[in-house]
Amino acid sequence: MRLQGKVALITGGASGIGLATVHKFVREGAQVVVADIDRERAEKVVAEIEGDGHPGAAAAVQVDVSVYSQVEAAVQRAVDVFGKLDVIFNNAGIAGGKALLDHDPAVDYEPMIRVDQDGVYYGILAAGRQFRAQGTGGVIISTSSIYGEQAAELAFTYSAAKAAVISFTRSAAYELAEYGIRAVAITPGRVGTPIINQFSEELRTTFASEQLRGKLTEPHEIADVVAFLASDEANVINGTVVHVDDGYSV
Ligand code: NAI
Repeated sequence: MRLQGKVALITGGASGIGLATVHKFVREGAQVVVADIDRERAEKVVAEIEGDGHPGAAAAVQVDVSVYSQVEAAVQRAVDVFGKLDVIFNNAGIAGGKALLDHDPAVDYEPMIRVDQDGVYYGILAAGRQFRAQGTGGVIISTSSIYGEQAAELAFTYSAAKAAVISFTRSAAYELAEYGIRAVAITPGRVGTPIINQFSEELRTTFASEQLRGKLTEPHEIADVVAFLASDEANVINGTVVHVDDGYSV
């Protein structure tokens, strides 16, 4: 129960890595706001948690992380329901992309930057302000990607946004340390979630072979690391990137 007494907001909490992290955090004793653009799935997750014998451990909120006022409202929901906020996991994201020279900026650049980059900035800003107001400190964990540190095919915009997540993390740790706030980025490799499952079987086999265990990472394996990073046991991990890529980047 390493997160006993903590309140966390998890964006993209209705699917994949976020969903696995919601369940892990609840098992570790946290109270969790499941924040997702998909209201129905977020509410379903909360109902499942209630049915699993954790009444009152989770609440749902619909949020589009690309809109600052909605991210602020999601933070406020955590405070209204659970009285405070201790952890934000900026994890909502979209993937995909085209070859650079085929880009229409309005389609292939701007929307992804709004979600994958601006959404993380908004989460850091809104949660940071809440942590400062509480005077309690806090933890900011954000999902980057292996592509945040390297170029890849059809990933021009995605790589840029995920690199920004790493930069935001460093700067946030630097600037917010005086308020007792910690910031960490994680870089997953190939995780078996709907983002990856949309690709062909052949491509998924290739993805798996690129990782040292020869298989896709399970979402719960990422969630285990996030729970540790959110806990006081990880107090010395700050302003850095934790590679959770199954050896992809060796
Ligand atoms: P997923 O598609 O299972 O989950 C993403 C969740 O984010 C969904 O529930 C979706 O509704 C939500 N979402 C999308 N746009 C949103 C918005 N504007 N506002 C609020 N919620 C929104 O995908 P997965 O794989 O769990 O992805 C989570 C994060 O991990 C993303 O940031 C992704 O870029 C990153 N990632 C995933 C990898 C993988 O192999 N699956 C590898 C590296 C990074």
